[in-house]
Amino acid sequence: MAKDVPISLPPEGAVTLVVVKEVPYAVVVQDGRPCAFVAACSHKDLALVPLRLKKGALVCPHHGARFDPRTGACTDDAGKDVPRGLHPVDVQGSPDGGFTLRARKRHRKLLTRKERRRIRAARDT
Ligand code: FES
Repeated sequence: MAKDVPISLPPEGAVTLVVVKEVPYAVVVQDGRPCAFVAACSHKDLALVPLRLKKGALVCPHHGARFDPRTGACTDDAGKDVPRGLHPVDVQGSPDGGFTLRARKRHRKLLTRKERRRIRAARDT
């Protein structure tokens, strides 16, 4: 099941966090093209929250793995076993000139339950 969520795009080269039902998404604009990923690191299924874009890479705050913000590919695993890059998410233009992110229920499975609770608690404070 999918839900199209209206989003605001960050400036070129910046990253913004969108949370939909406890799932964090990283939204970036690279070379004028909007991209989004589930902000979940497959090393330990933890969230890339707080989001950091450092020297052109999304950096996992837990153990330092780095991901390409254009493709989501892991470019530096920081010596950890990171089995996958970031999961890409559809971003589409909407008729009103805005953009929507396609959130899917299955994205929840990319994070541990404990991590989803942490994201929810952070959003509620
Ligand atoms: S959880 Fe991301 S590198 Fe360990």
